[in-house]
Amino acid sequence: MPGLTESFVGSIDQGTTSTRFLIFNKDGEPVASHQVEFEQIYPNPGWHEHNPFELVSSIETCIDEAVKKFEELGYVRDSIKAIGITNQRETTVLWDSETGEPLHNAIVWTDTRSQSIVTELKSRNGAGSLQQICGLPLSTYPSSTKLLWMIQHVPKVKSAYEKGRLAFGTVDSWLVYQLNGGPAAKVFVSDPTNASRTMFMNLETLEYDDRLLDFFGVKGKVHLPRIVPSSDRKAYGSFSSGILQGVPIMGCLGDQSSALVGQKGFYPGLAKNTYGTGCFLLYNVGEKPVISKHGLLATVAFQFDGKPVYALEGSIAVGGSGIRFLENNLNFFKKSKEVDELAATVEDNGGCVFVTAFSGLFAPYWIDDAKGTIFGITQYTQKGHIARATLEATCYQTKAILAAMEKDSGHALSELAVDGGMSNSDLAMQTQADLVSIPVYRPKMRETTALGAAIAAGLACGLWHNFTELRDINRAGGAVFEPSIPPEKSFEMFSLWERAVHMSKGWVKK
Ligand code: G3P
Repeated sequence: MPGLTESFVGSIDQGTTSTRFLIFNKDGEPVASHQVEFEQIYPNPGWHEHNPFELVSSIETCIDEAVKKFEELGYVRDSIKAIGITNQRETTVLWDSETGEPLHNAIVWTDTRSQSIVTELKSRNGAGSLQQICGLPLSTYPSSTKLLWMIQHVPKVKSAYEKGRLAFGTVDSWLVYQLNGGPAAKVFVSDPTNASRTMFMNLETLEYDDRLLDFFGVKGKVHLPRIVPSSDRKAYGSFSSGILQGVPIMGCLGDQSSALVGQKGFYPGLAKNTYGTGCFLLYNVGEKPVISKHGLLATVAFQFDGKPVYALEGSIAVGGSGIRFLENNLNFFKKSKEVDELAATVEDNGGCVFVTAFSGLFAPYWIDDAKGTIFGITQYTQKGHIARATLEATCYQTKAILAAMEKDSGHALSELAVDGGMSNSDLAMQTQADLVSIPVYRPKMRETTALGAAIAAGLACGLWHNFTELRDINRAGGAVFEPSIPPEKSFEMFSLWERAVHMSKGWVKK
């Protein structure tokens, strides 16, 4: 009978388009899992929302189904010692601090409705020094301007704000609060990797900074979660109900930091690129944050015991969501994984470049008003060319980010470790290797985001004790994609992309 002496950790991976729950053994292998998709709400062009309760119920469904599968394999529930949470970052949830009632749908990180607030804030005194303190430039991407938009436009939020009852949280805080029983327990916390995406946290002290709170006009007026380490035995409480009732939550990491941990990017110089809904390259810079001069973000990679470890980040707004756009909006295929087949029907992009700027362009360009634009369409253009151009868009942006990282850090990466949905595409990964002119390494087990949160929880509950013990997890059986075109060719393709980026700016509705 398996599972009677073995211990496991569970990992909730609450992403932008789907939620998963995975149960990992001590070898870092998922033994049972379940995934559900939930509603994407697009009330207006550029707006993107989630129902906060649906995020919670999607977790409950995943846990129920995964634990059922786990028990069917002969394991016992009590062998799950702790839970880790990883989540989409920046997405903002507001609720009544007394009742726990959400006051609006969550505004998702991709949402650009706060663009005019950003423009106004950029002209204020002190705007230029924010990035030095919090690591992020002013844009529609972090949580701060989403909060301000709701205070200004949602009567219920405004009223709670005026009464001093407005609770603000990124998705981790909302989930931990709810899973602990909401207002009855009032476990209101966030970890530094999530808090570093709000623009409210000082990157060096890992505390809220009055200069930032003052700048956004929220000092003393909004309830903010207490910032606690990413791996902690007590701070995150435990499940108040359901099949995991009483099981402690001991790890919490924003999903991109979690993927870095899951790829075991524990030491300076290690990096990973995750192709999820968006695409995010994180490069471990060690125990001192590096404030980028070339369009990257400074963020917290993890804080396990004591000192935090920092990363330079290149964030791309559209990765897998570009493929979903071809599937859902243009009906190019029925399942995202068919993108490979479609792209393989042609030899190259046929002269098409697709700037997939559905939410403006993030790193390293930061163009809020760029719009999705396809250049180079002729009578010759087939669906396959557009499919290729869509995959290439993420790969070009990765190349631009690598160049910025090299300038900021003074080091060139010798290999790119990848994961996330689009990394399953051999064609996309070959294209990536061709465009960045370095090998691309893809591990065998690609649930690295979930593994990261499991590691955070597992280190706290004693399943693992140190990084050395984790060294051999998920090492065997990966694939390497070697560059197959000369660097001059990739440079030529990239130059065309940069021209297209330039031309996609400034498209505004009159
Ligand atoms: O910053 C947004 C990011 O955390 C979302 O990740 O995997 O849902 O695209 P993903």
